Amino acid sequence: MSTKPFKPVRKAVFPVAGLGTRFLPATKVMPKEMLPLAGKPLIQHAVEEAREAGIEELIFVTGRYKEMLEEHFDHQPELMTTLEARGRTDLMDRLKSADLPEGSLFLTRQPKPLGLGHAIWCARKLVGDEPFAVLLPDDVVQARRGCLSQMVDAYTELGGNLVAVMDVPREDTRKYGVVDPASDDGRIVRVRGLVEKPDPAKAPSTISIIGRYILQPEVFDHLAAFDRGAGGEIQLTDAMAKLIAGQGFHALRYEGTRYDCGSPAGFLQANLAWGLADPETAPALRDFMDRLDRGTIPRSQDKAGAQR
Ligand code: G1P
Repeated sequence: MSTKPFKPVRKAVFPVAGLGTRFLPATKVMPKEMLPLAGKPLIQHAVEEAREAGIEELIFVTGRYKEMLEEHFDHQPELMTTLEARGRTDLMDRLKSADLPEGSLFLTRQPKPLGLGHAIWCARKLVGDEPFAVLLPDDVVQARRGCLSQMVDAYTELGGNLVAVMDVPREDTRKYGVVDPASDDGRIVRVRGLVEKPDPAKAPSTISIIGRYILQPEVFDHLAAFDRGAGGEIQLTDAMAKLIAGQGFHALRYEGTRYDCGSPAGFLQANLAWGLADPETAPALRDFMDRLDRGTIPRSQDKAGAQR
């Protein structure tokens, strides 16, 4: 297939101003994006996925009490010196994994929680007039090739706007932005409409958006109207729907499994999935799951649960 020279996607926006109330009290002083998934904060998973996809500029839309997120990506000279003195190059490598190239992290703030669309609009000056990606760090995708890399590949063929989608049970459409498909080849869906959190009875399909987007800058013109949508919030989905008439809009069924780390159960499932994928932790976890299945966990371990 011939590839057209679409403007490359160099920037990514990470909305991280949310309060994380579902994880209280863990998130009383710590941003929910700092919750560790297999030893790495959720935000680092998202940042690594973006960098793997060729993103050069990372834009955090932050809010109050979120400073820890910026600091996480700072160089940490004192700790580095201590680890070097101890000859712990293994730990130095782990620490370095959170260093970003100088001048690649940009910050803006969302002063009021008016919705995802409003958060993205707050990044308009930093994005400027070029296509950009959006990654919601709550959504983590376990995949051989990162979800955003897969999207960038598809974007190189298709241009326009692109969202990552998965098929959900019909009763779950009220949790997602849902696609009205014009055509669907099993991988790429041509989009003719989008609805935010539709009632299952009225949903145009069960093809649902996960927190990965590649968008054209014209979306900011629609967001600027500050129209309120589902839940009284300024919805990104509503602004995207207005792009469909004038620009290409596609959805990609990515390869991989998405975990909703914004929900306590999804977060635990993700930790289990990552633990099982890591050869260091997998054997002990498998053994534990096996004993859970057989009901042979020693009484002493039951106690912690009983005391809660
Ligand atoms: C947001 C979007 C929704 C999307 C979802 C994916 O909803 O508004 O369209 O399907 O993320 O996680 P939220 O989960 O913030 O309510």
